[in-house]
Amino acid sequence: MQTLSNKKILLGITGGIAAYKSAELVRLLIKAGAEVRVVMTPSAQEFVQPLTYQALSGHRVYVDLFDAEADSAMDHIELARWCDLLLVAPASADFLGKMNAGYADNLLLTLCLAAKQSVAVAPAMNQQMWANPATQENVKQLAARQVIVWGPAEGEQACGDVGAGRMLEAAQLLDNVQRHFSPGRLEGVNLLLTAGPTREAIDPVRYISNRSSGKMGYAIAEAAMRQGASVTLVSGPVSLAAPAGARLISVESAQQMLDAVMQQASEADVFVACAAVSDYRVDQAAQQKIKKSDAAMSLKLVLNDDILATVSALERRPFCVGFAAETQDVEQYALAKMEQKNLDMIAANRVGDGSGFETDFNQLEVFWRAGRQTIEHAGKAEVAKQLIDLIAERYTASLA
Ligand code: CTP
Repeated sequence: MQTLSNKKILLGITGGIAAYKSAELVRLLIKAGAEVRVVMTPSAQEFVQPLTYQALSGHRVYVDLFDAEADSAMDHIELARWCDLLLVAPASADFLGKMNAGYADNLLLTLCLAAKQSVAVAPAMNQQMWANPATQENVKQLAARQVIVWGPAEGEQACGDVGAGRMLEAAQLLDNVQRHFSPGRLEGVNLLLTAGPTREAIDPVRYISNRSSGKMGYAIAEAAMRQGASVTLVSGPVSLAAPAGARLISVESAQQMLDAVMQQASEADVFVACAAVSDYRVDQAAQQKIKKSDAAMSLKLVLNDDILATVSALERRPFCVGFAAETQDVEQYALAKMEQKNLDMIAANRVGDGSGFETDFNQLEVFWRAGRQTIEHAGKAEVAKQLIDLIAERYTASLA
């Protein structure tokens, strides 16, 4: 779909290994209908030749001030005025620092100063450089001046380090650009989400938990952000990277999850309880490691508070969405849970059959007071997208 037709995008490329990803970004932007012009800093050319972007964009690549001035059709001020969005991707630590300080010693910096339209940056650098207070301060100040910051993502880096600093993938940057031009259905909405399992301590080294991977919850966080929501993700222990852009609060036990959720609940417009919370905890977790003996052993379990029911019982409550994992009588149990916990919506899935826990696929039967909808078996990202569409629709209807 030509979602970006008539949109003019000036893509600034600074010196960084992620510059190769921007070649793919040019291709995706053009495929989506945008007109793209590329500006490179001198050091960007150490990584990728201007010719690459010229071939992909179908236009000459601007490299220095003199080039732009020599182009009688478009000098640097006109170039800055021409675009609907100036996106610097990758944006190196050095570039962000200079941009924040208002330097103008190369064409791209000049354009950032001269641009009247939105300017976005996609930082890309070593994780230590990203974490450095100098970089953090620069980014904070740029953001305070309405520069849009996309990413960085976490993960393995070209230098071998692991951490936050990777440039977002081209497909994700395309998504962000599309969303920039057509605000999502959850723009301005604070969405609070629980995900993953909880761990209930038996002693300092043992715990009771379950098979939840957190994948569905994390996919919902991504899908909600794509629709413009501000997402706070309260997550049990999982081995997934934090979704870029979400506020992540990591917890272990059901009690910690409840405390974290209740601290955030008053700010939330929508609450989605996707976590597989332990229904029970060990009555008195041992302070020291339990030693084995010949005797049989039993653990006394006591009921945990129901986080979802606690939120939905609040006087000023958010729009509440629950999950129900069932092995049988899905509809009947789901409707009963919606009633008991006073929910606005419940997403039920049959566990087993290649869906649900520990798989990359899911299928949902979603119920609300006046209707229902099936979300067919698909990858969790697709299922999450459809569920978020439905939540946005029902939440908006609830405000009317
Ligand atoms: N939930 C919660 N806090 C709990 C338990 C569950 O917030 N202490 C939420 C889950 O995140 C999910 C829904 O409630 O949204 C699941 O409901 P629940 O009745 O706990 O389902 P099951 O545990 O599967 O119940 P049962 O074992 O009775 O089927």
